[in-house]
Amino acid sequence: MVIADKQKKILTLLADGEFHSGSDLARALGVSRSAIWKQLNCLAESGLQHSAVSGKGYRLDKSLELLAQSEIYEVVNEQAKALISSFEIHDQINSTNSYLVECAHRGAPSGFICFAERQTAGKGRRGRQWVSPYGSNIYLSILWRYQQGGPAAISGLSLAVGIAVIRALKQHNINNIGLKWPNDIYSRGKKLGGILVEVSGESDGPCTAVIGLGLNLFLSETESEVIAQAWTDLSKITGQHKLFRNELAGTLLNHLLPVIAGFESVGIKAYLDEWRAYDCLAGRLVTILLADKQLKGTVEGINDTGMLLLKHADGSVQAYASGEVSFNSQSDESAG
Ligand code: BTN
Repeated sequence: MVIADKQKKILTLLADGEFHSGSDLARALGVSRSAIWKQLNCLAESGLQHSAVSGKGYRLDKSLELLAQSEIYEVVNEQAKALISSFEIHDQINSTNSYLVECAHRGAPSGFICFAERQTAGKGRRGRQWVSPYGSNIYLSILWRYQQGGPAAISGLSLAVGIAVIRALKQHNINNIGLKWPNDIYSRGKKLGGILVEVSGESDGPCTAVIGLGLNLFLSETESEVIAQAWTDLSKITGQHKLFRNELAGTLLNHLLPVIAGFESVGIKAYLDEWRAYDCLAGRLVTILLADKQLKGTVEGINDTGMLLLKHADGSVQAYASGEVSFNSQSDESAG
């Protein structure tokens, strides 16, 4: 779906979730009532459902708060603003991460920010799809260039980014959240968000990172049918369908940008204590899926370089730099 200009205007008018008559909409857009009807049906085919009631008009089934740079900037502080070089909000894009990887190849500098209302090919870790329906969640990518040490020098960056996300959520009084190694945001045993860091560069020279964050604010049962793991969203955690995407986007930038920009000088050490406080795997029985095998064990936290420590049945403790971790059935759903 490409959201055409007219469709965007209709969405903006209907975003409040109230009824608007066909003739008011037609007048506002300078088109016929049947053109409004057609555009609304196109939007419905793409998942933006509406109700039509005679005598009242049209209403979106789910109210929307579309992203707007002016509203996000009302929240972004001066320190974070100074770190932004470009700021884009796309109605639709394949993936904000893929886009910034291309921009990086063309020479874009640090501080390139990209949000999208919808991603058609949102990427998760391990080649998974990131479900990215229109207008209800956060899909954000940030490009940053690091001067030296190659990808190894920023190996703990995704853990630090997790801390920045937790700080931002806490600022909005969202509690009961934790981090599932390496970079999932979790709440009560269910995934709320994920971080995907794509790094390119020479082994010992400068490198470039595209840091992507997907955070679920509101996902419908239909939209989430394809998600193979336990998931949650902010509306479930808070029990409210509160519309505050722009405010949250601003708060996220306030916390993410200084952490990303300063990572080269402070490294993962600066975040270890905080990370451990939010670790929702520590002490749990898990299975770690590696490239060629699966291993069971009890998580003993992370070591000082951010690797996962797993205690095996024979008592040995081993550190893992990567892998997919799942809770074993004995572990309950209350983590995070
Ligand atoms: C994960 O698998 O947990 C990582 C998910 C990362 C999703 C975000 S959404 C914004 C950015 N663009 C993408 O295509 N992926 C990341």
